Amino acid sequence: KGRVFSGARPTGRQHLGNYLGAIQNYVALQKEYDCIYCIVDVHALTTLETTRDIKNNTYEMALDWLAAGIDPRESIVFIQSHVPQVMELFTILSMVTPLGKLTDLPTFKEKVRMQPNNVNLGLVGYPVLMTADIVLYKADLVPVGIDQASHVEFARETVRSFNFRYNTSVLKEPDIKLTEVPKVIGTDGQQKMSKSLNNHIELALTPEETEKVVMTMVTDPARKRRSDPGNPDVCNVFSMHKVFSSPEEVAMINLECRRAGIGCVDCKKLFAKNLNAHLAPFRERRAALAQNPDDILDVLRDGERRARVIAEQTMAEVRDAIGLP
Ligand code: TYM
Repeated sequence: KGRVFSGARPTGRQHLGNYLGAIQNYVALQKEYDCIYCIVDVHALTTLETTRDIKNNTYEMALDWLAAGIDPRESIVFIQSHVPQVMELFTILSMVTPLGKLTDLPTFKEKVRMQPNNVNLGLVGYPVLMTADIVLYKADLVPVGIDQASHVEFARETVRSFNFRYNTSVLKEPDIKLTEVPKVIGTDGQQKMSKSLNNHIELALTPEETEKVVMTMVTDPARKRRSDPGNPDVCNVFSMHKVFSSPEEVAMINLECRRAGIGCVDCKKLFAKNLNAHLAPFRERRAALAQNPDDILDVLRDGERRARVIAEQTMAEVRDAIGLP
C-alpha cells in the first residue's frame, strides 16, 4: 500500500475551503492508502500572535476531521510536536536548502506582506518543516489545496537535493493530490477562502448561522438590481451550486440567472439549504463525538505512538545515509 501524508495548521474549526480542497481527499484516500494526518501546531507558531487558543483549536480541528470521516482505526491522526523527530529532519534538510529559494517563494512573500513586523526564521523555513513532515513518513501522495502546490514542489526538489548530496535514495519524492475544487473562493467572491481573511464558512455552524453567512456572499457584481440579468460564470455562489446542488438545479439556475428569472436572494437560499442538507450527517457525527472529549485525546495519543515508530525508522536511515557518527 502507498502512503498518504497531509497536515493542517490548528486554526480551529475547518471551513469549506479546507473541506473541498483537502479533507474530502483525506477521507477518500483511506480506501487505497495508509494515511497519516497531522495537526501542525509548530507550523502555526510561525504566524500566531498568541498561543492562547492553540489547544482548543487542535481539539476542534480533530473533531472536524473525525466527523468528516477520517477513521482513526485505519489512519494515523496526530499532533506534529508530539513526534519531535521532525525537528531533527528539519535541521538536516536546512543544510541542503538555499536560503534564496525560500525567500523567492510567493507564499513567503505573501506572509511578509501580512506580517511585516514578524518575519522570523521559522517563517522563512516553513516549507522546509513541511518537507520534513512529508518525507519523515515517506509519503507517496500529499492531498492539499492548490495554495500548497508550490510547497509540495519544493519538497520534491529538496528530496532530490538531499538524495544527490548524500548519494542515497532514502527520501522519497511525494506527488500532490488535488480535489475537483482545489481553490475555494471566499464569501467576498474574490479571494481564497481563509480564516485570516474572515471570508470563510465553517462546517460546524448551525443551519441558521450557515444561511446567515451564505446570504452575505458576493455574487455577480454587475448584477445591481433583481431585474438585471446575471452571469453565473463569474458568480461564486454558482460555483458552489455546482458542488452541492443537483444537476437539475444547476441547469435551472444557469438559465434563470441569465434571464433574471431567479434573484440572488433565492439563489443563495437554495445553496444554503443544499449545503445544510449535505453537512447534516457531518454535524450529527460531530455532536456525538463532542460528547466524549477524552476519546479524541486517545486518538491523538494512539496516533503519536504509531507515527513515532515510522519517524524513528526513517531518522535511523537518514543519519546512516549522511554518515553521522
Ligand atoms: P492550511 O492549514 O492553510 O490548510 C489546510 C488544508 O486546506 C487547504 N485549503 C484550501 N483548499 C482550497 N481552497 C481554499 N480556500 C483552502 N484553504 C485551505 C490547504 O491547501 C491545505 O491542504 N502548509 C499547510 C500545512 C502543512 C502541510 C504539511 C500540508 C504543514 N505540513 C505537510 C501537507 C503536508 C497549511 O498551512 O495548510
